[in-house]
Amino acid sequence: MRRPLIAGNWKMNLNRVESVSLARDLSAADLTSDVDVLVCPPYVYLDAVSSAISGTGISLGAQDVYFESAGAFTGEISPAMLTDIGCTFVILGHSERRHVMGETDGLIKRKVHAALAAGLTPVLCVGELLEERESGKTREIVESQFNGSLAGLTEEQVQKTVIAYEPVWAIGTGKTASPQQAQEVHADLRKMLADRYNSATSESVRILYGGSVKPDNAADLMSQTDIDGALVGGASLNAEGFAAIINAASVSAA
Ligand code: PGA
Repeated sequence: MRRPLIAGNWKMNLNRVESVSLARDLSAADLTSDVDVLVCPPYVYLDAVSSAISGTGISLGAQDVYFESAGAFTGEISPAMLTDIGCTFVILGHSERRHVMGETDGLIKRKVHAALAAGLTPVLCVGELLEERESGKTREIVESQFNGSLAGLTEEQVQKTVIAYEPVWAIGTGKTASPQQAQEVHADLRKMLADRYNSATSESVRILYGGSVKPDNAADLMSQTDIDGALVGGASLNAEGFAAIINAASVSAA
């Protein structure tokens, strides 16, 4: 049985006071105990948010990491720095990093390996552009990102990894994939895991959906067999709305 995970990706939003206040409001919210909760603030507020959520069971993650462990890499942050500050998760290969920062599967793969080596759980994002979906290439694109970004992982390592399917056309656009569209890709991903590893491994990996998840569409998405949670952007910036999404993912709510 996979435990649902709801992750908030705050992206490059909020200031220090707002970050701490959002973390405190979320900590004080009435949250189901059968869903894992993760917040991913900007690097500079990780420390402050870490203190605000301390003792609540809410996990802390970063939005990216570099693959080297130390040295002359101006502007970068190492996996050990993230664990040092209390992070247990890191989002990798988000579409904004792929498409705005030009990250390739080769680079993302190195980050995934470095994160796992440091004991961090990678939340590896994959997803197609609108023109790729419209030209029937969704499976091909998702499979090539899956193969490229998760290359060389052992069975044990992939079991520790979370995959997030985020169709790029649904991110921040208010256009959500329908539960059926999302389920289809999630089932494809699970098949890719089964083909490369085995069915027990495939059944154990959590696959999140991301792209305009909101309180009013969360329950329908979460009720799909292969959707194990959500990676939430915009709607994670409001404690009440994010709490509603978390509670919608509860097994008892399904
Ligand atoms: P959104 O972002 O919920 O604002 O669409 C999701 C994401 O980019 O992770």
